[in-house]
Amino acid sequence: MEKEEWDKRYSQNDLVWGWAPNELLVNEVSDMEPGRSLDMACGEGRNAIWLASIGWKSTGIDFSSEGIKKGMQMADQLGVEVEWLEADLRKWEPPESAYDLIVSLYVHMMPDEIGKVHKNAIAALAPGGTIIVIGHDLTNLTEGYGGPPFPDVLFTPERIAQDLDQLVIEKAERVNRTVKTDEGEKTAIDTLVRAHMPA
Ligand SMILES: C[S@@+](CC[C@H](N)C(=O)[O-])C[C@H]1O[C@@H](n2cnc3c(N)ncnc32)[C@H](O)[C@@H]1O
Repeated sequence: MEKEEWDKRYSQNDLVWGWAPNELLVNEVSDMEPGRSLDMACGEGRNAIWLASIGWKSTGIDFSSEGIKKGMQMADQLGVEVEWLEADLRKWEPPESAYDLIVSLYVHMMPDEIGKVHKNAIAALAPGGTIIVIGHDLTNLTEGYGGPPFPDVLFTPERIAQDLDQLVIEKAERVNRTVKTDEGEKTAIDTLVRAHMPA
């Protein structure tokens, strides 16, 4: 989806993704020593705001001005500080070695585009820094709930680990995530890859 479509989606009153951070991200990050973090394609900011609330110097980037506007409002209400950047990740010039943690959640683009975004993320990662990529797995299309119905943009642990092969891969796996819906709880299948830059 392009910026205009995301802006339209985010301009509704309710939060599209809710205020709570992603549970898989919480599992991965809760024990880490806070430093400088970047949430790539932060949407309405739920994860960037949570990172700020636990002590990270948090930056969120997204091309949707409507998403960022909602993130700013939520951060103000909660009294946390987040740096918000409005930019298209496909054209973004990454600051070199700037972040100790980069997270990317449910950012689905064509393989060449997401590959470039991941290369930029590697450039922006500080020595010793960690990157966590979470997204809808290819198997979610037939066996799980939600996510885009286009195989080309879906993840596999192998596909994402290949994008990050300059780094030390700590885990590259499929994980189940519980989603609460009006019809009860459903299971979504995510790809989760965690890697770090050697110090
Ligand atoms: C499914 S949402 C996920 C939002 C957020 N990561 C979360 O988990 O709450 C995907 C996000 O990617 C953003 N996005 C998509 N393509 C982008 C691009 N080229 N540059 C920046 N943001 C982009 C959209 O605006 C949207 O906020």
